[in-house]
Amino acid sequence: MKIGKHIVVGNGKGGVGKSTVSVATSTHYKMRIYGNDPWSPMAKYLNNNPFIGEKLSIFKKVGLNEQMPQSAAPKIYDTGGWADDRMIPIIRSASLLIVPTLPELIDLDTTIRFLKKYSKLTDRIIIVVNKATPKEFGLVQQHLEAHGFTYPMLRLPQSKLFSRVLNQGEPIQSQMSKGAAAWIFRNHYKKFQELISMIDSYQVEAA
Ligand SMILES: Nc1ncnc2c1ncn2[C@@H]1O[C@H](COP(=O)(O)OP(=O)(O)OP(=O)(O)O)[C@@H](O)[C@H]1O
Ligand SMILES: [Mg+2]
Repeated sequence: MKIGKHIVVGNGKGGVGKSTVSVATSTHYKMRIYGNDPWSPMAKYLNNNPFIGEKLSIFKKVGLNEQMPQSAAPKIYDTGGWADDRMIPIIRSASLLIVPTLPELIDLDTTIRFLKKYSKLTDRIIIVVNKATPKEFGLVQQHLEAHGFTYPMLRLPQSKLFSRVLNQGEPIQSQMSKGAAAWIFRNHYKKFQELISMIDSYQVEAA
């Protein structure tokens, strides 16, 4: 099967960090984001964002009755928290499916349900355990492995470095270009760089 140069970020659960991971990644690679959530406020604060510039109108909202765009251009699909059958062929041909989850059991339950359904479509999956301490990360790994999910997993800590990406539209690169912030967030930035290395290993190409 031909593998496209696109990334899908998904989990049936709301508020786990799908958009945060999508925007942090898309601003790194300068890839456009497509969202299947017609109520998403992302367009409002991402398009014409002074931090992003470079005419990268970054967020495209795809209405419920529209076809999901499937051009060859590299892109990221930030998927809302529901079963959207339009995503099935897109996940199948994606270079990578990133599944963010929070470490709490209630979130893991949904993550496991999501993986049971969608892991049949691809084996190119990374799990991002978001807002987690190292101890929580270990427990999540054990829990997911006990359910048979042994995909590469990465921990992201709770950090303003990540919340600012969404809440203030400031990409990670821009935050790290400031001396004090670069120093304060250096360890959190290392985790982001680990995420990028993992994504790179799936041969995702920048635009
Ligand atoms: N690692 C993090 N550190 C600090 N804040 C975070 C982190 N990840 C996400 N957040 C914050 O948590 C909230 C939820 O994140 P986000 O919007 O990315 O989740 P989502 O899965 O896209 O939610 P939805 O399903 O509503 O679209 C946001 O306010 C975001 O700024
Ligand atoms: Mg979102």
